[in-house]
Amino acid sequence: MAALPSTMRAVQLRDYDGKPDSITIAEVPVPRPGPGEVLVRVFASPVNPSDLMFLRGMYGFKKSLPTVPGFEGSGTVVEAGRGMMAQILKGRRVACAAADAKVAGGMWAEYVVTSAKFCMPLLKRVEIEQGATLLVNPLTAWALMDEARRGRHRAVVQTAAASALGHMIIRLGKKYSIPVINVVRRAAQVDALRAMGADYVVNSSDPGFEAALRSLCHRLGATIGFDAVSGEMSARVLTAQPQGARLIVYGALSLGAVHADPSSLIFESKHVEGFWLSAWLRDRGLVGQLRMARQVQGLLASELKTEIQARFPLEQAAQALAQYTANMSAGKVLLVP
Ligand SMILES: NC(=O)c1ccc[n+]([C@@H]2O[C@H](COP(=O)([O-])OP(=O)(O)OC[C@H]3O[C@@H](n4cnc5c(N)ncnc54)[C@H](OP(=O)(O)O)[C@@H]3O)[C@@H](O)[C@H]2O)c1
Repeated sequence: MAALPSTMRAVQLRDYDGKPDSITIAEVPVPRPGPGEVLVRVFASPVNPSDLMFLRGMYGFKKSLPTVPGFEGSGTVVEAGRGMMAQILKGRRVACAAADAKVAGGMWAEYVVTSAKFCMPLLKRVEIEQGATLLVNPLTAWALMDEARRGRHRAVVQTAAASALGHMIIRLGKKYSIPVINVVRRAAQVDALRAMGADYVVNSSDPGFEAALRSLCHRLGATIGFDAVSGEMSARVLTAQPQGARLIVYGALSLGAVHADPSSLIFESKHVEGFWLSAWLRDRGLVGQLRMARQVQGLLASELKTEIQARFPLEQAAQALAQYTANMSAGKVLLVP
């Protein structure tokens, strides 16, 4: 393996104020892996809603500043610290994550040090670019549909259905013959989802939205819901669902607090709960995680495929963020060092 450089280019976050000029590009030392850690030469890393929350200081944790943002990506392990888990990854192509307070850096850099526990070796048939978006959305889509299947729910209702993850839920619904009711917020998203084969799409901006959603949820039996929007949207969906339904809140795209009509909770025995992939994976243990890793990678070119709308070098991180936030439904934006 070629000798490592002593410095690298990295995007740096200097303040959690959400302002564009709090992000710069810098030449910094290449970090070195400690015990149980690996050094990954980054191939690509996407911009996800969780990165936007992190940049604004609104994610579940903060890292000390300055820090490198970017929660997930793919690359090649070029150096490994002590410990079997780290050593067996040496030279391997991996999907990896830095979405943990204990990982000092992030993926929007030429190199990242992360724990071997946060790396998933890529199967030979998986393209390294698809590997860059493997850990956040495909695993979450799989986990949410696993909840629907285990709970034997007849149908699913989901919000922000035009998202990358929403597309995956639609395709998994087809695969497992579970009808999916899709809530979007614009007419163009209705057309786009219908064009990809979605059977049930409702637009929350339409005047008859509540009645249409309620009718579909009751007719199809959508006793489980996946909500990425929060705010008022949670109450609108929960109210539309049948008696005893579960609403799993897994995102906060509206940045609002979750609302719920008390009569849904008291008289109709409905439940609202949260979902965080990191905690869900921890509960599965290593064997469960490895099994899931194989299953998810097997679907990465089909049901769990991520559409990519643009690729930017690290120097254009600000443009990448602007392009993504203005066109979230158009696919992922990648930073490619
Ligand atoms: N809890 C977890 O462990 C976990 C794991 C993975 C992902 N997630 C969450 O999953 C969600 C989807 O992620 P993604 O990467 O698939 O998203 P994405 O591809 O970037 O798409 C975001 C979608 O949300 C829509 N949207 C944005 N703001 C909205 C609002 N205020 N109200 C309604 N719709 C809005 C966008 O529509 P427009 O085009 O109209 O803006 C777009 O269709 C995010 O909330 C993310 O945080 C959570």
